Amino acid sequence: MGIEPTPRLFGRGTGFEVRQAHQHPSAPTFIIDQALFRRYVKFLFFGDKLRKVHAMREIFNRKIIYLDNAATSWPKPEAVYEAVDHAMRYSGNASRSGHRLALEADRLLYQTRKLLASFFNVQDPAQVVFTKNCTEALNVALKGLLKVGDHVITTSMEHNSVLRPLSRLQRSGVEVTVLQANKEGYVTPKQVAEAIRGNTKLIAVTHASNVVGTIMPIADIGKVAHDHGVLFLVDAAQTAGILPIDMEESYIDLLCVPGHKGLMGPAGTGVLMVGKGVEVESLIEGGTGSLSESVEQPPFMPDKLESGTLNVPGIAGLKAGLEFIMEVGLSAIRQHEQKLTKQLLDGLSELDNVVVFGPKDPNRTVGVVSAVIRGVDPAQVSALLDREYGIATRPGLHCAPLAHKSIGGFETGTVRFSVGYFNTEEDIQKTIQAMKRIVKPLV
Ligand SMILES: Cc1ncc(COP(=O)(O)O)c(C=O)c1O
Repeated sequence: MGIEPTPRLFGRGTGFEVRQAHQHPSAPTFIIDQALFRRYVKFLFFGDKLRKVHAMREIFNRKIIYLDNAATSWPKPEAVYEAVDHAMRYSGNASRSGHRLALEADRLLYQTRKLLASFFNVQDPAQVVFTKNCTEALNVALKGLLKVGDHVITTSMEHNSVLRPLSRLQRSGVEVTVLQANKEGYVTPKQVAEAIRGNTKLIAVTHASNVVGTIMPIADIGKVAHDHGVLFLVDAAQTAGILPIDMEESYIDLLCVPGHKGLMGPAGTGVLMVGKGVEVESLIEGGTGSLSESVEQPPFMPDKLESGTLNVPGIAGLKAGLEFIMEVGLSAIRQHEQKLTKQLLDGLSELDNVVVFGPKDPNRTVGVVSAVIRGVDPAQVSALLDREYGIATRPGLHCAPLAHKSIGGFETGTVRFSVGYFNTEEDIQKTIQAMKRIVKPLV
């Protein structure tokens, strides 16, 4: 399916020349008068409003079954929406001024750092750095740590948020080893140990695959890193807020998490947590509200790695998300998601002509399941699920090309179903029913 050419309007003279966007600038144009143009704009405006109303009806009248929690969690706990709204109304810019609205923002940041530090067992809340997503946290960590001549070990199950920064670093002289995962997306601590060299500075591993949900043995890999005096980075994009993570116990030196997935905060939030004594250089320099007399970046944390105005409303939402998780309890969240994942894995595996990738045991995965209907483009399946059944999934390669090469399905990608705390057994039952109906006429 090609992209539809959209009419583009070029203002010139008294009328307007209209040319199709895909045409060459020298192609003939035709003239419309301004009244017609105004009617066209009016149509676009109201057309857009109608589409929005329609989308809202879809969400509220005919319940959407949201199975795209690996991209971002939805819906959020009510307290998250309230916290964002409150922070937008009643806080100023943090670390800049001394008035009450600015102090309110300062307090919020400090409380959130403290909460995150206790949740992930970081000794000093100052080592908790706010970023705009997990990708930024990973970039700051990798680029702030690795220098020409250093060696880094990673795995074929990584997201492009790890692979692309590493690819760039490799071009500038960092040595990169990518360990091949097995068909289930698993890399062993032994593989990691065998890849360590004299110049190995870092081991960077995803906690769980965003394609098939495989959980990596991070505590064991952390022990290998610790025993060899190598730093250990964990990408917890798919596990923060779902599996317990203890930086000390798992020997994690750098922990990167998104705020908007399992932690249930808003988009535009992420966190980098840095172990004590680990030196990371800044990726972006600028205003921090501290040491304003100097043109140099402050050398202390978290200011060293946090330049510019922080996303205070987003962080307020993240704090509310974290408080919700602490109230419900990680084990209750995990148990619920495990039950739904088992139901999904079992139900999809039983369907004729449906291939499910990765481990079939929900004890070894988080709630991410990838499947294809034999011979059918995943984009078509995902579009049908959305259009006909109101089920939101994600088709394609999920920003992890090497993971697909490891587990299969690189040519077409997969349909990814990812469960969240707010999904129900009924959601999964309806999804399996929908897949059953979709398979029949297509195969
Ligand atoms: C394993 C993994 N790492 C990193 C990321 C990037 O996270 P963000 O979207 O917060 O940048 C994702 C996003 O899906 C992911 O699944």
